[in-house]
Amino acid sequence: MITVLFVGDVVGKIGRDTLLGQLPALKATYKPDLIIVNGENSANGKGITNRVVEEYLKAGVHCITSGNHVFDNREIHSNMGAIAELIRPLNYAARVPGNMVYKTEIKGTTLAVINVLGQVFMPPINHPFDAIDAILESELSDTDIILLDVHAEATSEKKAIALYFAGRVSAVIGTHTHVQTSDACILNHHTAFITDVGMVGARNSILGMASDPVISRFLTGMPERFAPPETDTERILDFSIIEFSPKGNATHIEAHHLII
Ligand SMILES: [Fe+2]
Ligand SMILES: [Fe+2]
Repeated sequence: MITVLFVGDVVGKIGRDTLLGQLPALKATYKPDLIIVNGENSANGKGITNRVVEEYLKAGVHCITSGNHVFDNREIHSNMGAIAELIRPLNYAARVPGNMVYKTEIKGTTLAVINVLGQVFMPPINHPFDAIDAILESELSDTDIILLDVHAEATSEKKAIALYFAGRVSAVIGTHTHVQTSDACILNHHTAFITDVGMVGARNSILGMASDPVISRFLTGMPERFAPPETDTERILDFSIIEFSPKGNATHIEAHHLII
């Protein structure tokens, strides 16, 4: 059996501190063979920096997935391609920097992680289904376990991707909404799925961001600067535990929503 810990979008320093503070306990409890973290909101809520990547890797994270905010902090642009553990969505334009596949081998089983952006209620991007199809038929044709992070807004688009690729990938894990869904399941006796794994960060917030500027934006429509709160009395730690057989099929998925 291969166990994967998948952590939802980590928002800002409060999210990073929450994750890094709890990671030793999560490792002791679940003994994951692989730890994946969605890191697109790690740096003050938008993007990720080299220092944060190092911080995650040092803490034992194996792979960092991302999404529409991955390039918000410019510092990472020139270094994206050099960090094998940090992947960008497949369906950006070909010239966009960054690795698109994280590959490893666990207990003799080959495993890959990929990431894709949705098109519905999202900034314009290439077709996600075509991008996944293309990489499954080429670079990943011999991989035993493929985990797909679907970074998308619409629940329908995530489920459509999951059912279209069920049987061909071993897990479809939704990210981006920062709200955990209660629909974790195994599709077609093969593919673990959850519409959204959730987030890590301040609980008394709006998707991890301090609420006052967000409310003000809704009230007036005027520009506001959003940032995560520096402290909170309660923090959310959302993650899923997924188990796979060595043959590549998912046997179990459970979602956890911890308040710390
Ligand atoms: Fe996010
Ligand atoms: Fe996002």
